[in-house]
Amino acid sequence: MPTLTTPFRAAEAVLRVERTSLRVQQPASSQDMVSLAMGEPDFDTPPRIVQAAAEALQQGFTHYAPLLGDKALCQALADDISARSGNPVATGEVLVTHGGTAGLAAAILSMVNPGDRVVIPDPTYSLYADLVNMAGGICIPMPCKPDLHWDLARLETCLEGAKLFVFCNPGNPTGIVHSREEIEALGKLARQHDTLVIADEAYSDLVFTDRPFTSVLQVPEFAGRTLYCQTFSKSYAMTGWRVGYLFGPAEMIAAAARVHNTVNGSVNTAVQRAARVALLECRDDVRRMFAIYRERRALMMAGLAAIPELSLNEPEGAFYCFPAYSLPIPAIDIVALLREQGIAVRPGSEFGAAGEGHLRLSYAASTEAIAEGLKRLRRGLAGIR
Ligand SMILES: Cc1ncc(COP(=O)(O)O)c(C=O)c1O
Repeated sequence: MPTLTTPFRAAEAVLRVERTSLRVQQPASSQDMVSLAMGEPDFDTPPRIVQAAAEALQQGFTHYAPLLGDKALCQALADDISARSGNPVATGEVLVTHGGTAGLAAAILSMVNPGDRVVIPDPTYSLYADLVNMAGGICIPMPCKPDLHWDLARLETCLEGAKLFVFCNPGNPTGIVHSREEIEALGKLARQHDTLVIADEAYSDLVFTDRPFTSVLQVPEFAGRTLYCQTFSKSYAMTGWRVGYLFGPAEMIAAAARVHNTVNGSVNTAVQRAARVALLECRDDVRRMFAIYRERRALMMAGLAAIPELSLNEPEGAFYCFPAYSLPIPAIDIVALLREQGIAVRPGSEFGAAGEGHLRLSYAASTEAIAEGLKRLRRGLAGIR
């Protein structure tokens, strides 16, 4: 086979991500491994949604969809956002994306120029930093408080001179749900510093606190400067379908659509028909899964509380627990040692330097897996001393 005269070297954008990325490739799981590492529901997609996709294919929804998204889905999303925000939503303010991942990519790559400062909480979902680095931006990690909420004084300092703030609420990996006060404070500071915002609310249907969830959609300060990022993956157990959306000012959506259409093209037509059915007809399924997550959460919290090496802030949302551990060993090594005990979890350091000393456990796994996983975790940590 003829070879290149000069060895292949990936583009700088790729190398920047390779150099900086904290994302850990999960090693393949052996059969007897219990995994509490995955960030995806173990439920199958509700049958009504599967049926809608099959029907759409049979009805001939097999052609390209419009670039901003299927008209009927966009209308349903606009109505839904309008009901949640109390404001009318115009055509051109919604973009259907290939999952939350492509929505975040389109959002970040359409906003960030090389050298732009982008503030992200630390720890947080690791994709944000990778995308900022791909765009050539400069990530400014903002360490969270020990209770994993934001330090508002620190937030104010970090936002000085920042182009963009990216965050998720509820939080991955922290399981924190930011209060109305925190969200309103962010809104005020973003306005004061003229900062753009990307609000990733992928887990907004999974909130276990007594206080109602505050979305950026309900806080006027965010309007005009914010891209709201959402996905069908978590609420509807649709991770493999790859469908999500962005909502925001028409000019920001147009810029994101330019990236999305260049990189991804339009989203699968039949999938969009099914997503519309999910949105309009499947709230009961969301509630059913929520009730099961709530039970699993209680099981995991009780199990973690009984492990002396761990201390846990109450997980308020998403499907993660993020306990701190008391052993003087890097998280990545603890995770490797735990794998030898047949239990897979994620190192907190994968989500930012401030995540060091923590483990991320997912309770989007079966009750049996959680119960057995907790046993192995307890045994594994006791053996590490
Ligand atoms: C906070 C957060 N946002 C977005 C996503 C992306 O989800 P998807 O691309 O499946 O829609 C994830 C997935 O784990 C996530 O945890």
